[in-house]
Amino acid sequence: MQKPIRLGLIGCGGIVQITHARAYRAITDTVQVTALADVVPDNLEKIGDQFNVPTENRYTDYREMLENAALDVVTIATPHSLHAEQVIEAANAGVAVISEKPMATTLEEADTILEAVRRNGVPYTVVHNYIFTAGMRAAMTELDALGESHFGRSAGMGLKPADFSADHPTPAFAWRASKAKGGGCIIDTSYHEIYSVCTLMRSPVRYVEARVQTLRLDIDVDDIAMLLCEHENGAVTTVSGAWCVPGTDSGWCEMHAEHGSLRVNHRHNVANALRRFTRADGWQQLELSEFDEAEQQDASGHARYFKETFNALAAETALPVPAEKAYHNLAIIEAARKATTERRAIEIPPP
Ligand SMILES: NC(=O)c1ccc[n+]([C@@H]2O[C@H](COP(=O)([O-])OP(=O)(O)OC[C@H]3O[C@@H](n4cnc5c(N)ncnc54)[C@H](O)[C@@H]3O)[C@@H](O)[C@H]2O)c1
Repeated sequence: MQKPIRLGLIGCGGIVQITHARAYRAITDTVQVTALADVVPDNLEKIGDQFNVPTENRYTDYREMLENAALDVVTIATPHSLHAEQVIEAANAGVAVISEKPMATTLEEADTILEAVRRNGVPYTVVHNYIFTAGMRAAMTELDALGESHFGRSAGMGLKPADFSADHPTPAFAWRASKAKGGGCIIDTSYHEIYSVCTLMRSPVRYVEARVQTLRLDIDVDDIAMLLCEHENGAVTTVSGAWCVPGTDSGWCEMHAEHGSLRVNHRHNVANALRRFTRADGWQQLELSEFDEAEQQDASGHARYFKETFNALAAETALPVPAEKAYHNLAIIEAARKATTERRAIEIPPP
């Protein structure tokens, strides 16, 4: 039997405590949480105690962890402005990198990441978890039969609290609302709606028109993101994201194609996750009984994402989310910002 992959965590905050930790606990045969880094000692303790990480392997400086701990892989789950620097340091230390989204805050940073991972020959992937939920995985098996897509829509809208101060009970709001930390609605929230609907459309985006603006909240990043995208195959997609409207019908994406349509609640567990329309049958809810209990409850898709990613790393096969997908998602976001300031459609050239 192969030895478990030795995993180091850079960032042990909200998402690690809420979902990553549960995902790692389900794959202890494949992965051993070996070392941790976080600037907040309390977060080191919460995760360290859960995984019995020796105190000498808990670091407040991630560079010391990279220097001293024997690791095969690191996961990065820190504020967005830190991703590029931390991925590059990890790649230079010769470990594989699983980065939370987004890849970076700009394409310029993303290029430096790609250069570092290629130069060091380390595997690198970004967490696009919502395409691993039961609803999305079942939807993906329907796509061939439905044929060429022509129209897509997705929405992730809600109301953030007015208080973005660091002493809010959820301190992560503070960096999410900060331009310097790489926050904002489009790169934090709509990020997921963009790759989810693009996965259903199966054609890369070539032109973006958008309004990415601060309409209501007292913050220096966008609180609304409305995108109109044209795909390589001529299809059109809209993406609606907001932090400044009360929760409506949110966390879904749709794809309309030659032989029918799909509607996926990609941010939900299995109940009511997937509907399909055909002219013969109208709208029908699809039963997702092929997924086991744990998969049905994996509402964020993280458990499946990590399982497949670590299996691929162990087998040295292609990673389920290649860097190009994350790069394209960031290119759409950057184009949407530029489309807003320049009030015109922005082209995303093929790679
Ligand atoms: N894929 C998803 O569904 C999803 C959901 C939530 C968050 N995220 C992503 O996860 C990342 C973290 O988000 P979060 O909600 O956990 O934020 P958070 O603020 O709760 O956690 C961030 C952690 O990073 C730590 N940190 C800050 N600076 C550091 C440094 N220099 N070195 C080491 N650690 C440092 C903080 O102390 C904190 O514990 C972001 O990239 C976010 O977009 C993804």
